[in-house]
Amino acid sequence: MGKNLSIATISLLLVLASTNAEQVFDVKSYGAKPNADITQALTKAWKAACAVAGSKVVISTGAYKLGLVTLLGPCKGAIEFNLQGTLQAPSDVASFNGKDGWVIFERIDGLTVSGGGVFDGNGQLAWEKNDCNKQKNCNQLPINIRFDYVTNSIVQDITSKDSKFFHINLFECKKLQFQHVTITAPADSPNTDGIHMGHSSQITITNANIGTGDDCISIGDGNQDVSANQVTCGPGHGISIGSLGKYENEQPVSGIRVTGATLSNTDNGVRIKTWPSSPSGVASDIHFEDIVMNNVGNPIIIDQNYCPNNQCSNKSPSKVKISNVSFKKIRGTSSTKEAVKLICSESVPCQQVVLSDIDLAYKGGGGSTTSSCANVKPAVSGKQNPPACINKL
Ligand SMILES: *[C@@H]1O[C@H](CO)[C@@H](O)[C@H](O)[C@H]1NC(C)=O
Repeated sequence: MGKNLSIATISLLLVLASTNAEQVFDVKSYGAKPNADITQALTKAWKAACAVAGSKVVISTGAYKLGLVTLLGPCKGAIEFNLQGTLQAPSDVASFNGKDGWVIFERIDGLTVSGGGVFDGNGQLAWEKNDCNKQKNCNQLPINIRFDYVTNSIVQDITSKDSKFFHINLFECKKLQFQHVTITAPADSPNTDGIHMGHSSQITITNANIGTGDDCISIGDGNQDVSANQVTCGPGHGISIGSLGKYENEQPVSGIRVTGATLSNTDNGVRIKTWPSSPSGVASDIHFEDIVMNNVGNPIIIDQNYCPNNQCSNKSPSKVKISNVSFKKIRGTSSTKEAVKLICSESVPCQQVVLSDIDLAYKGGGGSTTSSCANVKPAVSGKQNPPACINKL
């Protein structure tokens, strides 16, 4: 009996050990050397790792040049991308041949991206060529890291820096967690959104530190069940739902929770933005809670007339319906006198909007903050500084 038990125990341990063992694929074994281009080495290491169950691609400390790579699944099992060093993108946009991504993770289930390393997009030259302020459908520039059809995965302890366009983009992802991610780009770098997502669900972002030239987080159409906790944001344009209503056939956005964020010196705080003259759409069940604003412009804003650089031809009202939105425990300082702006659509007024425990002081001095409302009657409770809807538009 004792012997049988010990044999059973040993076999169990062996099974556990073999399932835990990760096979390591170091890019060095595929010819990678610091300061050289490792596009081929990484492509080969990824292919080999993807073909076995439970593997890890390692890029150790040092700087490496890297061209566009698509790290494609499905893989045999869970796979880790362990980046300890710094990957440097080509600075010229031409070498991307019109492709919209630099490092692309595609169709992978059970991916871990980790290691403390840096994805450096070298965006300076691309920012100068960015024409999105002149053209609504501007040239696509490469996004630092794309996750397309990635499921049951974790991204932790990595940095994305100076992307040419958005830093991180999610498309059709499910159950993807971001932890301790750092994203940095200068305040004046155009369209360098931190994390943008579309058509994704069950996404969580915790302890992210994001400062860029555009939205820290932007949640586009078709996202469900997204939560962002303990995010610091600034510089940048704030944390945004949208923009929505720019394109035909956009899918609903619902189940969004932003809690415990701190925004500093951003152009906007927490925002829902939809284009005028839009096709119909839906944004509902969106909650912002326990958020600190430090010298933030428009700390609380719903803008259904969103039209940057006046790119809209006719301005009929937005048809994106916004409902069940709450702003709770939002406090700190506003850099604009108008701290609360709820500008909803004339054709589909906002419904079930809640303002609770709002305390926003005007940083500029010269009086207190104000608020404006159009096509919305928010339910208010707790402290209201500024008083809700002083100006009805
Ligand atoms: C509004 O949001 C709350 C909180 O997430 C949710 O429980 C409720 O189901 C939503 N109500 C509607 C009508 O969508």
